[in-house]
Amino acid sequence: MTKLSTKHLLGIKDLTSEDIRLILNTADNFKDVINRQIKKVPSLRDITIANLFFENSTRTKLSFELAEKRLSADVVNFASSSSSVKKGETLIDTVNNILAMKVDLVVMRHPNPGAAVFLSKHIDAKIINAGDGAHEHPTQALLDAFSIQEKLGEIKGKRVVIVGDILHSRVALSNIFCLQKLGAEVMVCGPTTLLPKYIGSLGVKIEHNLRKALEWCDVANMLRIQLERQEIKYFPSLREYTMLYGLDKNLLDSLSKKIVIMHPGPINRGVEITSDVADSDQSIILEQVENGVAVRMAVLFLLAGRN
Ligand code: CP
Repeated sequence: MTKLSTKHLLGIKDLTSEDIRLILNTADNFKDVINRQIKKVPSLRDITIANLFFENSTRTKLSFELAEKRLSADVVNFASSSSSVKKGETLIDTVNNILAMKVDLVVMRHPNPGAAVFLSKHIDAKIINAGDGAHEHPTQALLDAFSIQEKLGEIKGKRVVIVGDILHSRVALSNIFCLQKLGAEVMVCGPTTLLPKYIGSLGVKIEHNLRKALEWCDVANMLRIQLERQEIKYFPSLREYTMLYGLDKNLLDSLSKKIVIMHPGPINRGVEITSDVADSDQSIILEQVENGVAVRMAVLFLLAGRN
């Protein structure tokens, strides 16, 4: 298979396992490219890409921009905080104006779940969802899968626990879909208040005890508590959350086997994970960031139909 089954990348839910494997295999080739002395290839010459960020981002925004430039695309960047959105312009009007400038591909992060799907129904350009509210963050899940595969080999049969604020996490949902499509076993771990009611219907295991979850898994993906999406209190205090669900070096070293530690970033050091765990030799957090560029190059390349 050399083509994706979808026109856009709106969510992992829409991808087949063959699509995911094609993206990961293509990313493998691009990882070689970005480690060469000359890191740039002409694959997306004459393609214009708009990066529309209606919500803050460090990793995703920089990673997409770097991926686009490594592929020789023309890139325009838009941040809502410095745009006419502040003067009342709607999403559709903003995007139509950008498309009038002959943009082929749009990468969009937006605080509203479904924003990328909405856009795909109204404009002709190809859309990549760079995170829509608490819904999906497909390229994060793809780079997470790539990083697990790189570290542990075949994902089928591996056990991955996602720890923390599952309720407000787009990373959790995309990871669950992606890992299950690749044959991994997935567990979620956190306080009941931070697990969505529907979570059992996704076929994941549920565990409330962090030590038991860590003893079960090969990989632990530690999520940030997303205070910016919490309108009510879901636990008494951050201190209490950290006591029950924070991962420190004592707990990590007391486990019966060595597990891989992941985090999508941004990290709240000392809350969900201590610095000595984040910076330990079991952590692949910076490898995730490095792999993000190769994976996003693969997604852009495949969606642009240049393969
Ligand atoms: N992982 C992630 O999406 O990070 P940013 O919010 O910095 O893009």
